[in-house]
Amino acid sequence: MEKRAKIIALPSGGRLRPWTAADAETLVALANDRAIWRNMRDQFPHPYTAENAAFFLSNLANKAEAGPIRAIENAAGQVVGSIGLHFKHDVSHRSAEIGYWLGQQFWGQGLATEALQALTDYGFATYKLARIYALVFAWNPASGRVLEKAGYTFEARLRDAVTKDGQTIDGLLYARLHP
Ligand SMILES: CC(C)(COP(=O)(O)OP(=O)(O)OC[C@H]1O[C@@H](n2cnc3c(N)ncnc32)[C@H](O)[C@@H]1OP(=O)(O)O)[C@@H](O)C(=O)NCCC(=O)NCCS
Repeated sequence: MEKRAKIIALPSGGRLRPWTAADAETLVALANDRAIWRNMRDQFPHPYTAENAAFFLSNLANKAEAGPIRAIENAAGQVVGSIGLHFKHDVSHRSAEIGYWLGQQFWGQGLATEALQALTDYGFATYKLARIYALVFAWNPASGRVLEKAGYTFEARLRDAVTKDGQTIDGLLYARLHP
C-alpha cells in the first residue's frame, strides 16, 4: 500500500508528483518516441497512442500497489517524463526496480539524475527496501551515467540478457543499497 508523501521536491525547483487524468495529452506528446521505447521494456508501447495513455492513467490505483510512479515536473511546472519503483516479490521482496524516461527535448539538463536521486531516497525512507536496481541496455550509456551520478554502483554485465528491437544485447545491472 502506498503511503506518505505524494509530492517529492527536486533541488532545482521541480518536483515528482502523481500523474493525473489531465496529463493524457502531454503524456502522449512526450512518450510517443522510438528513442525512448528503444531503451524501455516492451510493455512500454510504440507508437504511444491516446488509448495507451488513457490505460496508463486509469490504472494508477493498481499501479500504486506495485510501487510509486510519479510524473517528473521541471522548475517551470512542465511535465517532462516519468519515474517509478516496481516492487519485487518472494525472496526479492526487499528489492525494487527503478524505471524512468524523459521526453527527448528535456534530455541533457540533469533532470533524470535529480529525479533518480530523489525517488531512490524516498524509496529507502518510505519502504522497507534493502536494494533498488536498474537494468540498462548496453547501447544506453547515458542511463548508466545517470545512475552513477545518482549513487548507483555498476554490478554486472548480464550477457545477452536483453532482446530489444530485433537484437539480443547485454544488460548492465546497477544498484544502490539501503544507506
Ligand atoms: C537516460 C535518460 C533518462 C537520461 O536523462 P537526462 O535528463 O538527459 O540525464 P542527465 O541530464 O541527468 O544526465 C545525462 C548524462 O549522460 C551523459 N551522456 C549522454 N549521452 C551519453 C553517451 N552517449 N555516452 C555517455 N554518456 C552520455 C551526459 O553527458 C550526462 O552526464 P554528465 O552530467 O556527466 O555530463 C534519457 O536519455 C531518456 O529518457 N532516455 C530514454 C529512456 C531511457 O533510457 N530510460 C532508462 C532506461 S534504463
